Amino acid sequence: MSGRIPETFIRSLLDRADIVEYIGTGLKLTKKGKDYWACCPFHQEKTPSFSVSGERQAYHCFGCKAGGDLLGYIMARDNIEYIGAIETLAAHYGMEVPREGGGRERPDQGIYDILAEAAACFVTWLQDPHKGTAAREYLGCRHLKKETIEHFSLGFVPLGWDNLLAKLGTDEARRELLHKAGLARRRDSDNGFYDMFRGRLMFPIRDVRGRIIGFGGRTLGQDEPKYINSPQTPVFHKARELYGLFEARQASRRIESFVLVEGYTDVLALHQAGISNGVATLGTAVGEPHFRALFRYADEIACCFDGDTAGRSAARAAMLQSIPALAVNKRLKFAFLPEGEDPDSLVSTQGAEAFTKRLSSADLFSEYFFEEMRAGLNLAALEDQARLKHLAEPEIERLPATPLKELMRTRLAELTGTAHASHMPATEVRRYQPDEPTAAKRNPIRLLRQRILSILIRHPSFFAGLEEDHRKALIAGSTDSLAALGEYLNKNKSADAATIYGFFLGTEHEQALQAAASKQFDLASKLLVAELTEGASRLIDLQARESRREALGHRLRAS
Ligand code: UTP
Ligand code: MN
Repeated sequence: MSGRIPETFIRSLLDRADIVEYIGTGLKLTKKGKDYWACCPFHQEKTPSFSVSGERQAYHCFGCKAGGDLLGYIMARDNIEYIGAIETLAAHYGMEVPREGGGRERPDQGIYDILAEAAACFVTWLQDPHKGTAAREYLGCRHLKKETIEHFSLGFVPLGWDNLLAKLGTDEARRELLHKAGLARRRDSDNGFYDMFRGRLMFPIRDVRGRIIGFGGRTLGQDEPKYINSPQTPVFHKARELYGLFEARQASRRIESFVLVEGYTDVLALHQAGISNGVATLGTAVGEPHFRALFRYADEIACCFDGDTAGRSAARAAMLQSIPALAVNKRLKFAFLPEGEDPDSLVSTQGAEAFTKRLSSADLFSEYFFEEMRAGLNLAALEDQARLKHLAEPEIERLPATPLKELMRTRLAELTGTAHASHMPATEVRRYQPDEPTAAKRNPIRLLRQRILSILIRHPSFFAGLEEDHRKALIAGSTDSLAALGEYLNKNKSADAATIYGFFLGTEHEQALQAAASKQFDLASKLLVAELTEGASRLIDLQARESRREALGHRLRAS
């Protein structure tokens, strides 16, 4: 699409759009006060800190500080540019995006028109009692039904150099147009043309709006090449378009997921077997634009690959291509078919159910990613852990900022043994833990103080937010590491973890602090603040009770 989008359109779109309504269709919003709240889609959390304001038509996350207006939200969520966000929003409200200065739009219209005329000729020839006999027989051999043939507007062009030219190339301008549309080639000898497609079954390729933009043509026999595709033209971009996308959206308005396959005939066979969400690339490798295009209409894509070596390496390449397109809530799966089978053959020999079963047991992106990255590595060896980190880390960083990215980082840290914030590996931490009698370990005050210590060493800034009584309870009446840390934080309110380690380095508290830091929690920091406050009050109670008990013991002994 070319041409500017008029300002007036953008303004009327934004006037019509409501951020609460729009975000509310994808997230469960709860009204509290004037604003609406949800768990933030841009970072992982269990209690909502993501707010949407109808009044300001803006969103803001108090957890990760993401924020902006509605278009900014769509851009961040789908990882797309401004124009894409306008198109997404317009589609949501059923509005067509107009373009200004038709300078480039007009000439393309002629190409679209002649492509549509050509498609109609191909359909007529396929149905022609004489001309289409062989092609119809071929389709019969492949068990393709009338309904499928019509749904995909299949056609046929008989053998010959100028079937289409003779029919549509009625004047020089139209012959030029056929050439521009990729339907005619220029002869070397003179300035004349000849048909691009001769004696082939024709698969029209449509854009997402249903306009025909090119063709794939299959031979009926064994000759090479098996398929000829339209060349790049002003309206046909192979690396971006998908065969069957328009037809899948025709078959169902609401698409949950797409099945991405390799061949045109795979799309047909799946459709005929009741799986109408199949799409195929146009004989090119699967790339990032394909994933972006599909994720605009569904949250999940299942990619099917051959189980052989070529299929495996194509899958790996596709997986790497998909990374920047994996916006919030988007899922990608990888299914591998038995060697020598394609979705078409699998469905026809084993049935649709066998195929969907394979899809449901497909590897998720995250699984397949780590499986591929760690292939051939022995993760017991530090060198191989380092290798994995070297390979996987830059790829994970290419993911848009989403909860999945966070989790993938954590997973990588686990696999490479760097999951703990401690400077020591887990095994050493365990070894350094002071040997204490079991009774002391079970002492509730001690356990609570250890838990509080591990929260504070992770989030030292929380200390300053505690009430004075609570802060005192952590420090007074004890000589343990929590008391020492509390004392330090009382004087150094803005100290970060690194400064704290530096201060306690070489002291009796060093090991306890590191052990505390190696404790893993999966709680959001908001919950940790709550736990800390609650823990501190409980500590006051427990410590008060303990000192009463001690006092009582004193008196009993004295009497
Ligand atoms: P396949 O060879 O798997 O084709 O190529 P297919 O779709 O399964 O066809 P049938 O079942 O033999 O009829 C997969 C895709 O690769 C592209 C086409 O897009 C095809 O659908 N291709 C293949 C070409 O562009 N040119 C070729 O010569 C072969
Ligand atoms: Mn095939």
